[in-house]
Amino acid sequence: MFATSRAFKYAGFFSVAAVGLWAAPARAQNAGGMSGAPGAGGISSAGAPNLGGAGSSAGGASSGASGQSGGAPNGAAGMSGGAPSAAAGMNGGGTSGSPGTSATNLVTNGTFDTTSTSPWWGYANDTIDPPAAQTLAVSDGRLCSTMTAGGEHPWDVIVGISGLALLPNQYYHVAFSVSADADRTIKFKTGFGDVPYTDYFLESVAATTTPQVVEYTYLNLRSDPMAQLQFQIGGSVGTVCLDNIVLEPVATPATPSYTTPATSGHPFKYYKDVVKMGTAVDTPMFLSSPLHNSIVAGEFSMITPANSMKMNLIEPTQGVFDYTDTDALAAWAKANGLEFRGHPLVWHTQTPSWLTDGTWDRDSLTAVMYAHIDGVLGHYVGQFPYWDVVNEAIDQVNGTWTFRSTIWHDTIGDDFMDLAFAHAHMVDPNAKLFYNDYNIEQKGNAKADKVFEVVSDMKTRGIPIDGVGFQGHYYVQPDGSTSGGVPNMKAIADNMARYAAINVEVHITECDFRIGKPLDDSKTQIQTKFYADLLQVCIDAPNCSHFTLWGLSDADSWVPGTFPDYDYAHVWDKQLMPKPAYEAMSQVFAKAGATTGMAGAPGAAGTSGGSGGSGGAVGSGGTGAVSNAGAPGVAGSGASSSGHPSAAKKDSGGCSLASSSTDTAPWLVSVLSLLGIAMVRRRSQRARA
Ligand code: XIL
Repeated sequence: MFATSRAFKYAGFFSVAAVGLWAAPARAQNAGGMSGAPGAGGISSAGAPNLGGAGSSAGGASSGASGQSGGAPNGAAGMSGGAPSAAAGMNGGGTSGSPGTSATNLVTNGTFDTTSTSPWWGYANDTIDPPAAQTLAVSDGRLCSTMTAGGEHPWDVIVGISGLALLPNQYYHVAFSVSADADRTIKFKTGFGDVPYTDYFLESVAATTTPQVVEYTYLNLRSDPMAQLQFQIGGSVGTVCLDNIVLEPVATPATPSYTTPATSGHPFKYYKDVVKMGTAVDTPMFLSSPLHNSIVAGEFSMITPANSMKMNLIEPTQGVFDYTDTDALAAWAKANGLEFRGHPLVWHTQTPSWLTDGTWDRDSLTAVMYAHIDGVLGHYVGQFPYWDVVNEAIDQVNGTWTFRSTIWHDTIGDDFMDLAFAHAHMVDPNAKLFYNDYNIEQKGNAKADKVFEVVSDMKTRGIPIDGVGFQGHYYVQPDGSTSGGVPNMKAIADNMARYAAINVEVHITECDFRIGKPLDDSKTQIQTKFYADLLQVCIDAPNCSHFTLWGLSDADSWVPGTFPDYDYAHVWDKQLMPKPAYEAMSQVFAKAGATTGMAGAPGAAGTSGGSGGSGGAVGSGGTGAVSNAGAPGVAGSGASSSGHPSAAKKDSGGCSLASSSTDTAPWLVSVLSLLGIAMVRRRSQRARA
């Protein structure tokens, strides 16, 4: 029933919830279908709020952001155009009149003015124990699904509509009104295809007893005559009702212009010759959000696709490659002057079922690996300068750190990495090829030491490996403890130094710092210091030229879905406002820039300053995070023209800033006071550095 007059506003068109892309069977997603991906756990855990509500932040964030007009990000992020202008762009999208009656609405019977539920369908997973069960009926002018038996997950009971014809490169406005018999988190998504079906745009929504309007705009990239809308609702017994469901094409939203909020006046990318900052982005969320796009283009030098290059998505059928999402990201990056990191080529996770279900021997799986590298790296040859060739291949097996037991290793053998790198080098001899892993940042850590041994051995044997990606996923625990979660910066510096000694580059590739809930100022301080310290270590290392954040903001984070007790991992918050870590990192950059003569010279962006070798320590930090200043591999002065990233950034010979001081760093005090956060001095934490 269309109850209110103009209940819809173009408000929440940027995406907000934990997002993952994964393949799942039509109408019947089950844990098995999703278990290959870390995101699967994420989705499953994100469903937990249905049962208890403890983790309701994801849903809360979703509904909050979708209901708020984006005005907040505008000022704080320094967006001169801000969300409102983008919203205006959206309003120009030709959606006049009431959404429920829009001539362009692709949804038939979205207002439930009669008792007919057609063409909506219900699905209840009857393969779980106990089986879920639902009835679907129009009640009080709303489409209501009553779960008489709940499922384990939100996707155990679904209300959906199929056969929606979507156009490629078209923005769509999605709106619906949702209510429930009690507070519960549901999942809304679009999916492409019928069989096979793949989730595409996924959002968590907090439903309450009061009907509320939820709206999104998203960019569809494919021609798809059989797209679906689905509402996954079935984690517990009860009722969810929907009304006024709209899916209609709208004009491309305007991208707001960007002004950096950094007090230095310079965005991260201004310092690209010191260290290139990157961020991971996910389709279609990223491309759908003008505000998000604007910040990424305004601040960063490179992007990594968070999911679109994973094997399940880019080679969903053997030998059939789907470049759609990655092509769109690559085109966006090119248009905005950002570099691109290929990620990942060979990984055991987020793999297609044809791979995991197949029967392979060494030769046939090697052929599959080569064909995948040909298909992906070959498609982008010469375009992406950096590639994660092998991802996360080292693990503890029976108490020993060795090659992880994966389909690749176990079928091909210990030399699968050698073969992958050699083949990748043959396909694109100019690409820089990386091994990428987590928890390998600190020298002395058993896994880190094993990876160093493996990489050293590869180098010695002439395998074409250029670098190692330190993923950089760290955390503070819910109780505020930093044990295990905050790395020792000197150990990271020492690790970078030993890689420099064997002429191997290090990139920070997936940095985030998740906070155990609940969020408080003390945890924010620890996070702020972590980001700034790690950036400083990278700046100081002659062989660390790139630092990528694993996602821009808490609004589109992979963390709450994967680590249910954690959130707030990123440098921008859920409203896309910069957090204290942003200004802290920016000040680290400003000091580094000053040593190369950059800071006072806004016109000098993109150059390394050229005064190579000025070098000397500036405000010695004292704990040795900078002990590698003279490490092998330091380029001589004036090396910026070589094109080698580490050479370009290392003119200063390593500036020693105060990040590792056992006393509180001055920049931290100023950042926190600037942002109104009380400085709580906790010597035990400060002493960690
Ligand atoms: C994560 C994505 O961010 C999620 O959206 C997805 O559900 C799972 O994968 N190490 C990696 C990344 O190399 O590719 C992972 O990305 C995070 C861990």
